[in-house]
Amino acid sequence: AGLPKWHLIILLFMFRSFNVHLTLTLTGPLDHDHDHHEDQVHHNANPDRCDGIEFDAIAPDEKGHTFFFKGDHLWNGFNGPAQVSSAFFRELDDYHHLGHVDAAFRMHNSEENGKHDHIYFFLDDKVFSYYNHSLEEGYPKDIQLDFPGVPSHLDAAVECPKGECNSDSVLFFKGEEVYNYDIATQLVKERQWAHLPNCTSAFRWLEQYYCFHGHNFTRFHPVSGEVNGVYPKDSRHYFMRCPNFGHGGEAKVPKCSEVTLDAITSDDSGKTYAFTGHNYMRLDTHRDGKHTFPIARTWKEVTNGVDAVFSYSDKIYIIKGDQVYIYKSAAPSTLIEGYPKSLNEELGIEGPVNAAFVCKDHHIVHIIQGQMMKDIDLSATPRVVAREASLPISGIEAGMCGPDGVKLYVGSEYYHYESPGVLALSRMLQEPKNVTPDMMGCVE
Ligand SMILES: *[C@@H]1O[C@H](CO)[C@@H](O)[C@H](O)[C@H]1NC(C)=O
Ligand SMILES: *[C@@H]1O[C@H](CO)[C@@H](O)[C@H](O)[C@H]1NC(C)=O
Ligand SMILES: *[C@@H]1O[C@H](CO)[C@@H](O)[C@H](O)[C@H]1NC(C)=O
Repeated sequence: AGLPKWHLIILLFMFRSFNVHLTLTLTGPLDHDHDHHEDQVHHNANPDRCDGIEFDAIAPDEKGHTFFFKGDHLWNGFNGPAQVSSAFFRELDDYHHLGHVDAAFRMHNSEENGKHDHIYFFLDDKVFSYYNHSLEEGYPKDIQLDFPGVPSHLDAAVECPKGECNSDSVLFFKGEEVYNYDIATQLVKERQWAHLPNCTSAFRWLEQYYCFHGHNFTRFHPVSGEVNGVYPKDSRHYFMRCPNFGHGGEAKVPKCSEVTLDAITSDDSGKTYAFTGHNYMRLDTHRDGKHTFPIARTWKEVTNGVDAVFSYSDKIYIIKGDQVYIYKSAAPSTLIEGYPKSLNEELGIEGPVNAAFVCKDHHIVHIIQGQMMKDIDLSATPRVVAREASLPISGIEAGMCGPDGVKLYVGSEYYHYESPGVLALSRMLQEPKNVTPDMMGCVE
């Protein structure tokens, strides 16, 4: 599981050259606009992160843009040049003249105390709290006023929400010491993870934890500190785009009008995936940006794209041609023994399938083939088509049932119905809507 995922860029360019179908590309941390502050960049002493530098701090903002800090400069996202930090966080310059930050993190929780999504910066013995890139009133203040028991002159900090840590916490790093700060109780547990290098910055990205040291990083478990896999790795291969590190060139963010999906689904835990060509995109990760990965990275056996995907009872069903692959949803995705099986054996139908979806807590899979919708009861054996309906829409490529009803995608447009029942009875073609940047991480 989860190396951050820069080889996907290489794949992306390979696929782009021969797969006209591929329209989902990189967004999120990569898709920001570097032009706003260009005029404010100090052109002398502009560091280049492709030289192999050590970062002072790494933290995302509330929009999922990741900031990498070095001296009085920062990089906004995984791509692009250094800019002066004060162009983004103005007061960092006014209050100190050291020209660096020690540590930074984004507050993940505490909606009740109004600190959700604030970014905290640590400089010497002071803490700065920013929201919407403005310094909050009352800041900077002494670190211990906000974080009692946490030392000054920190090296690194990272958010750790409940579920990944035992409670909503922040991990602070200083030398060989790690301070686990419980946000609600303000209790600090100090520990040493001797096997982990001293982190000069730390970053949580797509539910994984990274300790940066030198130009390398090491992935660790936020509770045990355990390191699994071959580390350290060179950050330039993963968290930035550098020439000679295998992923030069520009990743293109697709226009919303060019989006086409092969399939889309959301599992019980809320993870939402959109599939196009050989890639998929997670759509529920707004806080870390939206990202594209090769399908075979997560579902190893699915090497040639998908026709339809649906989620049912902790499993994800992937249909390609006349085959069905069933995977356990929980990471890492594992193929259920005996699969793939033929569509006929599993669902009692012949392929190909254009789209498929199950509504939460229901047992009916709605299979779309051309303009027909076939309902199959997944709790009954043998599997038979219990009901068929002719739909007013042609060319459906993907479909999903969510809390707000059914969405059927045709190119970059979609049709929205309250429920499968309403869809089955509809005779009139309604006006389609356009997919939006919010839905698919595309640009207008
Ligand atoms: C964020 O700041 C911008 C510009 O400074 C302002 O226009 C916008 O209203 C602010 N948004 C919020 C949610 O405070
Ligand atoms: C880690 O930090 C400790 C305490 O500051 C220091 O003594 C030690 O030399 C550091 N280790 C490395 C490998 O830099
Ligand atoms: C980075 O990691 C490599 C091994 O992957 C190691 O040889 C090198 O010394 C490390 N460099 C730094 C600055 O940590």
